[in-house]
Amino acid sequence: MRIGIIGAGNVGGTLGRRWAGAGHEVVFGTRHPGRVGTPPGTRAARVREAAEHGEVVVLATPWDGVREALAAAGDLAGKVLLDCTNPLAADLSGLAIGHTTSAGEQVAALSPGARVVKVFNSTGAGNMADPLYGEQAATMLYCGDDGEAKGIAARLTAELGFEPVDAGPLRNARLLEPLAMLWISLAYVQGLGPGIAFKLLRR
Ligand SMILES: NC(=O)c1ccc[n+]([C@@H]2O[C@H](COP(=O)([O-])OP(=O)(O)OC[C@H]3O[C@@H](n4cnc5c(N)ncnc54)[C@H](OP(=O)(O)O)[C@@H]3O)[C@@H](O)[C@H]2O)c1
Repeated sequence: MRIGIIGAGNVGGTLGRRWAGAGHEVVFGTRHPGRVGTPPGTRAARVREAAEHGEVVVLATPWDGVREALAAAGDLAGKVLLDCTNPLAADLSGLAIGHTTSAGEQVAALSPGARVVKVFNSTGAGNMADPLYGEQAATMLYCGDDGEAKGIAARLTAELGFEPVDAGPLRNARLLEPLAMLWISLAYVQGLGPGIAFKLLRR
């Protein structure tokens, strides 16, 4: 699958490296293509070129870069847009928005016609590198309004080793983004460290 990843940092870089290793054609979109080191089998390009390349486009920029990044990406109508962002407040003390909207919904509003799925936001990048805890696969919750796009997101999630779980419509990003804040708080405020992940148990 052709995947364009906007943002080549902790999240974008890790996802891109792993998907390239699984045989996907990954292009990173960045403001500084010449300065970004990319994993084997991938390349860096301008944001617009990466977005045009991708059947699936991954948004992995800090929240304050989202508007600019999506403007640079251009028309994403019809594409699957995986939104990994969390709308963190500048001092990381909490979320800048929530309850009545979400980053996922705002990303959708900024990308008319794109088939947005909120995913990869509620765990750390280290878990994206390795989601396995012994024999247990960390759960990856995702939500969106387009069934086919969610199916693609679930497949790309499972390929990394996560257990994908459908968390409902895109408005449930209002729940997944606070969940990310909980993960951050447990890892870095409560001192559990980043080697933790959420797991949905079923009876
Ligand atoms: N880190 C995690 O464990 C984690 C986990 C889940 C979700 N998230 C969320 O995922 C997003 C990315 O986090 P991260 O830790 O990967 O951040 P990061 O390591 O700081 O990387 C962010 C990337 O976004 C790029 N970027 C920033 N503004 C941009 C713009 N306007 N246009 C294009 N690219 C731009 C940066 O490149 P240049 O500045 O060089 O252009 C950089 O490659 C955030 O919203 C974060 O809340 C993070």
